[in-house]
Order: sequence, then C-alpha cells, then structure tokens
Amino acid sequence: MKIMFSALLLLLGHASVSAQTTVTWSGQVANIVYQHCTPCHRPGEIGPMPFTNYQEASAYASMIAFTVQTGYMPPWQPDPNYSSLLDQRVLTAQEIQTIQDWVQQGALRGNPATEPSMPNYPVGSQLGQPDTVISMAQSYLHQGNNQDMYRVFVLPTNLNENKKIKAIEFRPGNKSIVHHAILGIDVTGQGRQRDSLAPGYGYTQFFGFGFTPTEDNWYGWAPGASAKYFPANIGKNLPAGADILVQMHYAPTSVSQTDSSSINLFYDRTNQVTRLEQVGMISPLDLMNGPFVIPANTLRSFKGRLRVPADISLLSVFPHMHLIGKNWRIYAVKPGNDTVNLISIPDWDFNWQGFYYFPRLIKLPTNTWIYAEATFDNRASNPNNPNSPPQNMSWGENTTDEMYLCYLGFVPYQAGDENIALSQNDAQNILKISNKLYPIFPNPASDRVNLGFQLNHAGQIAVQLTDLQGRLIREIKAGYYEPGQHILPFDCNDLASGQYLVQLITEQGSYAQKLLKQ
Ligand code: HEC
Repeated sequence: MKIMFSALLLLLGHASVSAQTTVTWSGQVANIVYQHCTPCHRPGEIGPMPFTNYQEASAYASMIAFTVQTGYMPPWQPDPNYSSLLDQRVLTAQEIQTIQDWVQQGALRGNPATEPSMPNYPVGSQLGQPDTVISMAQSYLHQGNNQDMYRVFVLPTNLNENKKIKAIEFRPGNKSIVHHAILGIDVTGQGRQRDSLAPGYGYTQFFGFGFTPTEDNWYGWAPGASAKYFPANIGKNLPAGADILVQMHYAPTSVSQTDSSSINLFYDRTNQVTRLEQVGMISPLDLMNGPFVIPANTLRSFKGRLRVPADISLLSVFPHMHLIGKNWRIYAVKPGNDTVNLISIPDWDFNWQGFYYFPRLIKLPTNTWIYAEATFDNRASNPNNPNSPPQNMSWGENTTDEMYLCYLGFVPYQAGDENIALSQNDAQNILKISNKLYPIFPNPASDRVNLGFQLNHAGQIAVQLTDLQGRLIREIKAGYYEPGQHILPFDCNDLASGQYLVQLITEQGSYAQKLLKQ
C-alpha cells in the first residue's frame, strides 16, 4: 500500500513538470510571482510596475519571461552555488521553466475561482510595529539634472538613555530615487557641524560621512535589502543623545523630486541582549598585493586577508567597491586548511549592495584567515567606467575614485553559537507583537469573562486576580505558554461585587486590567 502510494506521488510529480501540462496563472504562476516578485512589485515598493493580479502580470508576460530567464530578476548579486545566504532571491530552474511555458502557451489565466490571493503584506514595515520611527526632519529636493547625489543627513534620536537595538529597518521615502543608504552613529557632534556648515538640508559626501563617527557601519540598505535583525541574545547599541547619520545615494533623474526617508527601530523589549555585534573590516591595509592603485586601461585583481585573533561567530558580510568594481570572492581558511565559502559576487553592481547574512552563525576559530579577492576593470570597454578616457584610480570617496572594503559583522564566539539560525520569519514573529493583556470582556461581568493576552516570548506566566491595592485574591492560572495570542476563560460567579485587577505576570513584566463584578 505504502509503495503504491509513493509510486502514485512520483507519477503525479512527473506529470506536473511535463511539457504537455497547461501552465496557467491560477494554477502555477501566481504562486511564483507572489512569493518572489510582489515583495517589490506592488504599490509603494521599489519595483517599477505592480504584479498584484493576473491583469497586471500578464500585461508584462514576455518581459517577465525575459528577465527571469536572464537572471536579471529577481535581483540577487551573490552566486547561490558558492555559498548560501539568508533570504536569497533566486528562482529554481523549474520555476523559470514554468514561467517560460506559461508565456509560450499564451499567458493563460486558468480558473479564476482557484486563483491564490495576494499575500497580506504589512504596511510601513516588514517586521511589525517599531518602537520608534526616526524620520528626516525635512524632505530633500533632489535636482532633476541627471546627476547622482550622495548626501548625508543627520537625524537626532533625542534619546536620554542608552538603548539596545534588536532590529533596524530602513524605509526609503521616494523609491524611484533612493538607491542606497549607509547608516552610522555619532555622538561627537561632527555630523551636526558639517550639516550646519553646508547649504541646505544635509551635506554632500560620496561615500562614508567625511569623518570617523562613533560607529560607521551600523546598517547598510540597498533596494530589496532585508531589515537587519539580530538573532538570539545579540543586538546593537544606540547611545543616549546619538545622532543617526544616513548617507544616501540618489539616482539621476530628469525631473526634480523630493525624498523623506525614515528608519524603524525595534528595541530590546525583553532585555535579552547581552552581546553586541561588532564590525570588522578588510581594507587596502590588508592587501597582499598592494598598493591599491588601478592604472588606466588595466584589469587589476587584489587579494587581502585578515587574521581572526580570537574565536568569533560571523553574522554578516558587506563587500563594497565603486563603479569599476567587477567581482568579489570572500572565504575563510581555518587552521588545518578547511575552507568556508562566504560570498561570491561574480558581476558587481554598485546599485545593489548591502549586508548579507548567513543562515546560521559561522564559527571561525582563532588564527583563521579571511580572504577577500576583488577585481577592478579600468578599461575603456567597461561601460561603468566614470572616466573617459580611463584615468589612474586609487582610494577615495568620489565616484571617480575606488574602494576595496569588506565589512564583517561578528560577535565573540560562545558555545552553542553554531546552532543559532537566523530567520526572517522568527524576526517577524518576535517583533510583531509585544506582551499585552487585553481589556476584559464582558466588563462589568456577572459570571464568565474572557481574559485575552498575547506574549512575545515562550515562558512561565501567571494570571492573578488581586484587589486594587495589588493584594492576591486568587491565582487564575500559572504555567508555561508559547508566544502568540491566548484566551483564558474565567468563571467569576462566586466573586463578591466590586472592583478587581486582573494581572498578567511574565518574565519581562506585569500588565493589569480592571474588572468590575456586578
Ligand atoms: C528586491 C526587489 C525586486 C524583486 C524581488 C523583483 N524585482 Fe523586478 N524590479 C525591481 C526594480 C527596482 C526594478 C527596476 C530597476 C531595474 O530595472 O533594475 C525592476 C524591474 C523589473 C522589470 C522591468 C525590467 C526593465 O528592463 O525595465 C521586470 C519585467 C521585472 N522587474 C520583473 C520581475 C519579476 C518577474 C520578479 C520575480 C520573479 C521580480 N521582478 C522581482 C525590483 C525587484
């Protein structure tokens, strides 16, 4: 029986991939598009046209087939065969074929009754309700002169105490011009000073901030980059009084446009952060074949390396170069010569960059070497060469200079780190909700009420009935609860008339609601 059943499954599986199958939007394609395309191709997000239903998607059918066939869409620079990274945007060969078949067969709709519906995407955040939203104080007018603009904005946090941060999410204001953002933290006031000296809002600076702030790589965003979420007991520090520096790249436009971007911050609500992420860096100082000079009309490769001085757990990597950058290959060689592939970007694109995260923390023991190989094409045949004719290039902050930088997010190793997996779903589940006790219903009550509450963590809780002074009258429930929403019916028939408090006691704090017994 069991054998027959799996044989049947095999047969079914086979039938669904055969070329004879009619591929339709409702049957196969909607699911692929909703999973891989509408995160960006829907109103308010960065894709230039929406694909939120059959009409919208079929209008672009042949373009969709072309962009997925060539690998241009979904946009994803790293080579998925080299290493695996969190939230990688890649289609399987089968998904690509399904889309080709669909378009070849006339981009049919199929049965509208069986069409999957568009996922319910959040508005204003991919993660949930932020604890604070820090926005640009003014909107910035980006001139319609077909020129790039690199501008730093200084956003005061007005915090009077230190905060631990669990997640950082950059929200571009005007998606058609915001190309990337690099965030730093400054308590020195130098950012403010530069802003006040430059005309207009913010100040112009091609890469970086023009000085060394308190922390210069807090978060990097490029179109499609996910929110930065720290797993387990790892987080980031945001000191009291800090300014957030936002280094923004605005893409060329022929009409003047304004932007007002913002940052969602999620605090460490449950005091779980005991370890702060640190950022290391491989720079031209680490080159084995320096100096960092790329003579005009040459293709030049560099190899740098960094020794790991103590056991670490690697979280993320962020390679950065400018316009004539061609490719990256970054890997670690452990003592004993085991190689760990970290990231390969075979075809560098300045417009798509940011932090890449590993699906799990990667332990790198003391005396591991991290290698970063990069190639630059300073020939006239490179369409991205900003100089015509090509000029000698070296380190600098302008579009016409180059850079070779690899940022590495890590924490000192602790036993068990290998088992810490990063998942955007975990992030969403944890950050979406806070601990909460809902108002009691019905209230006033005569016999039975529902006590509704939600938890952002699994753990021991107690629900107690007290008087208004907080003296315990009855223990309603004590035990272990999973995160999420819960309803606890409570029979209050035998309770004397009067006012009471219902208290939810969790490991992170207590929450109370009034109950009036008739
Ligand atoms: C991470 C965000 C993102 C995702 C995911 C994404 N796109 Fe795009 N797409 C863009 C952006 C931004 C552009 C415009 C800039 C560009 O052409 O590079 C674009 C442009 C396009 C274009 C127009 C190309 C052109 O030459 O004008 C098509 C067609 C397209 N995407 C199809 C898709 C399909 C199909 C998927 C899913 C398989 C997808 N995209 C997934 C962001 C995304």
